Formats: sequence, structure tokens, C-alpha cells
Amino acid sequence: MVKISAPGKIHIIGEHSVVYGFPAIISAIAQRTRVKAERAEKIKIKNNLYQKEVVFEIAAATAAAKKSRQLWKEGNEKNDFSCLFSFLRSDFWKRNQAMLGLIFERLKVVKGGVSLIIDSDLPPGVGLGSSASLSVAITKAIAALYVPQIPNQKINEIAFELEKLNHGRPSGGDNSSSTFGGTIWFEKGKVVPVSLPDFLQNLIIVLTARRNLSTGDLVQKVRNLEKNFRGQKIKNIAEATYKMRRALDEKDVNKVKNLINFAQDNLTELGISSPEIDGLVKEVRKIGGAAKISGGGGGTVICFHRDKARLIKLLKKLKVNFEEIKLGAEGVKVES
Ligand code: MEV
Repeated sequence: MVKISAPGKIHIIGEHSVVYGFPAIISAIAQRTRVKAERAEKIKIKNNLYQKEVVFEIAAATAAAKKSRQLWKEGNEKNDFSCLFSFLRSDFWKRNQAMLGLIFERLKVVKGGVSLIIDSDLPPGVGLGSSASLSVAITKAIAALYVPQIPNQKINEIAFELEKLNHGRPSGGDNSSSTFGGTIWFEKGKVVPVSLPDFLQNLIIVLTARRNLSTGDLVQKVRNLEKNFRGQKIKNIAEATYKMRRALDEKDVNKVKNLINFAQDNLTELGISSPEIDGLVKEVRKIGGAAKISGGGGGTVICFHRDKARLIKLLKKLKVNFEEIKLGAEGVKVES
């Protein structure tokens, strides 16, 4: 039996612009997905988050992976992944089947299955990287059973393939954050560690209403915007991301705050905020703080104020669901 865990993430800045090849600054968080795995004849999955379990033949996983890959190729040509997403949603376990089939194929495991028990601290669909941390954790778990010498760089490459099934054409930032941990500057597949100033070691996140669109749908929604309009907003976020890197190096709290707010204004104009989030952002700004969406579009808002007590007082008054999170958590690891 192996036990693996992989962290979720928040985007300090750069979500959506990163999809167009610009950088993002992403930090792994203490909340993790945990997987227990052992060798088995078939594939057995128990997902404690949904309180569901299933057993299927390896052939079913291979077939789902094959079909998904074909639909991904067609989607990539058409610039529209809706057929892939419909196929993966056609049955509760279809996505898992395709993911497992792909992992076995990419790890070149030709004989044998796996029994997986999945637990997660990460609510799905709120921008905390639950899908990437699952992709990384199960890839690492199966590798640990069958090909333990494989480096994390390879785990990350396979998890990126899985993320493509989940989101169409993701940037690869979420899986890289979950694999390597810490806080990273992610640009076109390259990962550079970033150190955070003391005032940003912890952040407060507010959990807002769960969004009804997946990350893949949200990325597509932004892609469908008028090209020049979208291009300008994406460029604004990209420029703010470069400035953020400098502001973090210089430990300039005011610049960090203003850049978070600037990024949020642009994300709102891209149409991925909500009245609930806009209301919260307004209140945080009123007391001199900063707030922005993290990830695809809502579900989680990161809030920052140099006087944390003042921010907490406001959030309590607003009766929102908030928690303080530690940034820069360790990447995927084998648990003892
Ligand atoms: C999702 O967590 C972040 C996005 O930029 C998508 C991606 O990077 O693939 C919206």
C-alpha cells in the first residue's frame, strides 16, 4: 500500500492570461488530495468525497482513454471541446476511467490494475486546483506501485495530459504547482520558484457560491470574447503579473495590493466574476484591502489586507465563509 498526497493551489495572479502563454504566479496550499493505492487485478476506486465506489475492467479504462484522446484531437482542431466534455460527463466514472487508462498507458504498465481510495480537503470547482491535485496524486500513486523510479517531472507531464481531458487546453500551471509545490512563476511550461514576502505567507480565502461552469467552460467563455477586447484584458493581466514579481521581490505591500485589485478589475471585465464576488471585493477595498478571484472564475476569492485583524473583523461582519490558508505548501509526496 502506498499513500500519496498532492496540494491544491491559489493563483496569486495570472489566471486566464497564462492560457495564452503569459506567466502566472501560483502557490500551493496546505489543503491536499490524499490517495491510498495498492496493486489489484482490476481497477477499484473509492471516492470518499462523493461517498461512491466502483470496480471496472482495465479494458474499460483503455477504451475511455482512447475515445477521450480522439475527442480531444477533434476538439483541438475545432477549438471546441464540448464533445469531449459531454463524453466525460456521460457517466459518473467516465472521467476516472479515461484518466486511469491514460496513466497506465503513459507509465507503460501492461499488466495489473489498482485499488484507489481518494480523500480530499479541496472542494471541487472553486478554483483551488482540486482536479490538478487529483491528477497528480493518482499518477504518482500508480507510478509508486509500478515504476517508482519515475521522476516528478514525468509525473507532471502525465498529470498535464489528464488536465487536458478535464479542461481542453489548460496552461499546465495547476498541475505544476501541485507537483512541485512552493510558490512558482509558471511560464510556457517552465517552473521557477518564487519566494514570498512575510506579509504574504498566509492569505485569507472566502468561499463564495460554487460556480456552475467548469474551468474548461470558463476558459472557453473567455476565448469566445471579441478578440481585440479579450487581447487587451489578457495583456493587462500579463503586465500586472510581471509587475507583481518585482513587487514581491521588493516586498512592496502597496504595489502587491494594487496589482491584486487591478487583476480583479480585468478578470471582471472578462466576464468571469459574479455580483456576489463584486460585492465582497468592494467591501474589502473600502477598508483599504485587496481581493480577487483565484483560478477559473469564482468559488474562491483571495483577500489581502496589511492589517489582518481588520480584514477578519470585516469578513465576520459580512458573515461570509472564510478561512486563513498557508501558502507555499510542499508538492506531491509519499506519506509515511
Ligand atoms: C485555472 O485554475 C487557471 C486558468 O488560468 C486555466 C489554466 O491555467 O489552465 C483559468
